[in-house]
Amino acid sequence: MESTGNWSTSAGWLPGVSAVSYGGDYNPEQWPEELWPEDVELMRQAGVNLVSIGIFSWAMIEPRPGEYDFGWMDRLFELLHAAGIRISLGTPTASPPAWFFHEHPEARVVTRDGTTLGFGSRGMASPSSPAYRRASTSIATALAKRYGSHPALAVWHVHNEYGAPVSECYSDESVRAFREWLRDRYTSLDALNGAWGTAFWGQRYVEWEHVSAPAVSASVVNPAQRLDFARFTSDALLQCFIAERDAIRTECPGVPITTNFMAGTCESVDLWKWADEVDLVANDHYLVAEDERSQVGLALSADLTRSIARGRPWLLMEHSTSSVNWQPRNLAKRSGELTRNALSHFGRGADGVMFFQWRASRSGAEKFHSAMLPHAGTRSRVWSEVCSLGGDLGRLAEVLGSEVTADAAILWDWESFWAQDLEWRPSKDLSHRERVNAFYERLWQDQIVVDFAHPEADLSSYRLVVAPASYLLTQSAADNLRRYVEGGGTLVVSYFSAIVDEHDAVHPGGFVAPLRDVLGLTVEEFLPLRAGEKVRLSFDGIVGDVWTDDVALQGAEVVAAYEDGPAAGKPAITRHRLGNGSAWYLSTRLTVDDLSVVLDKAYVDAGIVAGDGPEDLELVRRRGSQADYLIAVNHGTRPVDLPVGGVDLLSGQAGESLKVEAGGARVIRIDKPTD
Ligand code: GAL
Repeated sequence: MESTGNWSTSAGWLPGVSAVSYGGDYNPEQWPEELWPEDVELMRQAGVNLVSIGIFSWAMIEPRPGEYDFGWMDRLFELLHAAGIRISLGTPTASPPAWFFHEHPEARVVTRDGTTLGFGSRGMASPSSPAYRRASTSIATALAKRYGSHPALAVWHVHNEYGAPVSECYSDESVRAFREWLRDRYTSLDALNGAWGTAFWGQRYVEWEHVSAPAVSASVVNPAQRLDFARFTSDALLQCFIAERDAIRTECPGVPITTNFMAGTCESVDLWKWADEVDLVANDHYLVAEDERSQVGLALSADLTRSIARGRPWLLMEHSTSSVNWQPRNLAKRSGELTRNALSHFGRGADGVMFFQWRASRSGAEKFHSAMLPHAGTRSRVWSEVCSLGGDLGRLAEVLGSEVTADAAILWDWESFWAQDLEWRPSKDLSHRERVNAFYERLWQDQIVVDFAHPEADLSSYRLVVAPASYLLTQSAADNLRRYVEGGGTLVVSYFSAIVDEHDAVHPGGFVAPLRDVLGLTVEEFLPLRAGEKVRLSFDGIVGDVWTDDVALQGAEVVAAYEDGPAAGKPAITRHRLGNGSAWYLSTRLTVDDLSVVLDKAYVDAGIVAGDGPEDLELVRRRGSQADYLIAVNHGTRPVDLPVGGVDLLSGQAGESLKVEAGGARVIRIDKPTD
């Protein structure tokens, strides 16, 4: 990861921090000050060494415009510092005070259907509002001046979860900013008209002032316009971050600056771009509690975060000790799940593990959300698991800085997802996320650790690359994939990929045209299926649903053909050798189990060996300079014997084989041979 300021990742993890960071959001302003010493004492008992403060404190710090009250925060800094607890200092700009919206009603977010959002929640200022930009950089500067050189300060936590709960804004100010963004991108209206294909439905523009945001209209709005608006939205939010970051850096150059991403759950920000602007990557993740295999979604988010961090360690800024309060059914975590979840993140590269939040709130919208210190207090299961996790993490300092390496990558491109998710696609059953999840789960079950990669990134270190949903694929990305395969890589491409260019226009030459010579085929026509319709393939009795293509071979070999359905007799699964590698194409939707039919063969091409452990055993290796660390998390109901020699850092046990109890976890140090 490139450092963008004076602080550099080569300096190590957070400056002055030599342990795994452990803690959570701490909102003491919700409680009488007499309680704070008890909080801090309990934090010490739990092994907490880092807390995030100030995230929603704007109205407390600046009760009236330009009038600051830092007294309470000064006392909080000293209390935490005296206890040896480091601070992740939030800028409170996700929650501007009531006075701000009273003075600047124009800064309120306007939704796509024209509704102006009211006060009383959070995260509701327009990213393109000049008044909001001024106010947020002023409060960031004031905080940096006040606390920038405080020894307890470990990291800056700018804003909170950019892109949530709203990201797009259609206010007049946003429309003006969008126009400026378009002028920068296209320079001329001719270029914009060409890129947006405005000849269709007579949308040609002759004045910039006539161009607007893609608000709700009579029917489907120009998809290229909507795609550009999604790009603009991500950039507008990023500009807010950069403005605050630069204001802080001017006052406080030595402390890393980050913001908490929601990798894999917030779709409106392009984190590949954002990653270049933060000093270290931080992420928030909440389980989909009703999903019985929620550990797979957790692993996906963690792997995506590590990939965004370019493989460097990252900080898990928030997850939950037990239930959240915003899902339809907020299931509590079962005994041991808190530790398993935390260690899964840790295994996938998190060098710090934090929660929302320290003490459960009595009032407000999130009073039913779990916390490190729950409403039930210290005589509770959650509290004892929180303390036990603090003890566990305290034994893992030597793992800090070690890195996860992956043999396989899944392509991930927010621009493609934005484009595919627009209206009037060939089937409502097409879902980019469903396919990404399916391929990810297949690899997870096969115990193959994956990175996520942008289609234009250097892929040469991977043996296998999967493109489950590359609807929008630029010519240069296709060239990149061609070089990857020619150089010996194994590529697996799923249906509805390489269909449009960066303007959501069908590639000249038709569907999959830029990958035609890589895949050795062309797709003449889409042949989507009826709801619930299944088609049989001439292979192992497997069936597909949702989609088929009319594939015409141009050099690929047929691995399986359709036995029935609209593509009967045509190729369903193909393989094409190119240079030193091979490229596979799947033209229908297979279940996670049936994906093995293709992937087992692709693994052979790629020289990858799938794990043979039970499928509920999560295994990830972090590589350090002196030793490797195998993180084993058993999500199953039976103990597993791991035939791996080493020392379990959690229990101190050593052996040539270690048992991982049902629901248990190990972090095994495997010394590197000395020769
Ligand atoms: C996060 C947010 C926190 C808290 C948490 C509850 O998205 O950053 O402030 O609301 O969700 O799950």
